[in-house]
Amino acid sequence: MHDQSPAPVICLDGPSGAGKGTVGRMLAQRLGWHFLDSGALYRLVAVAAKKQGVDLDAAETLAGLAHRLDCVFGWDSRGREQIFLEGREVTAEVRAETTGAAASRVARQPAVRDALLARQRADRRSPGLVADGRDMGTVVFPDAPLKIFLTASAEERACRRHKQLMEHGISASITSLIQEIEDRDRQDRDRPVSPLVPDAEAQVVDSTGRSPEQLCEHIIGLARIRHLV
Ligand code: DC
Repeated sequence: MHDQSPAPVICLDGPSGAGKGTVGRMLAQRLGWHFLDSGALYRLVAVAAKKQGVDLDAAETLAGLAHRLDCVFGWDSRGREQIFLEGREVTAEVRAETTGAAASRVARQPAVRDALLARQRADRRSPGLVADGRDMGTVVFPDAPLKIFLTASAEERACRRHKQLMEHGISASITSLIQEIEDRDRQDRDRPVSPLVPDAEAQVVDSTGRSPEQLCEHIIGLARIRHLV
């Protein structure tokens, strides 16, 4: 007899720069599970829209782009992430701050969110999935056995974002990053569809002053208590 229960999911939601990406990738690697970077999908819709000259408020056209999104995620020989859109590398564009802001606008459209739902759920495969986003626990995987809401102060998040951008060769000022992060949080929190709020079942974890390794250990401990690993 086959076990019919769906593969386990650990949801990692929270505001931008809280460390979800770093911790989530590390967690997925440690557990040998799949990893879903849902924010990258919204960013890719924004990049595709820009390339095709589509207005960021044109809900149905954006949803069409989201449905047809032809993207591949990978790594180069030095272990750096690579993202391809229709066969062309777009990693730097996807990670740019301007794309983050555009993604946040695109993500307000219910039609776009619907168009990306099936793609995200298809990533739930054995042996398990670590899902990084804003609405993983509330909307995409409401039955997930472990939901984490990762937070950190805006200053700490801006410093982390700064470091990430530098690694991608993009320069930015910390002050303007704090402002951008606060603006984007407000936009993500106040939107009517899938707002950035912790699920009632989520464990809120403050990542301020804690290393990715410590956070990873903490989450694995929570997963063990639930017999997920
Ligand atoms: O995590 P990120 O910075 O790559 O996400 C970019 C934007 O996409 C973010 O401002 C909000 C949106 N987003 C979302 O609405 N829902 C998700 N599950 C992931 C990201």
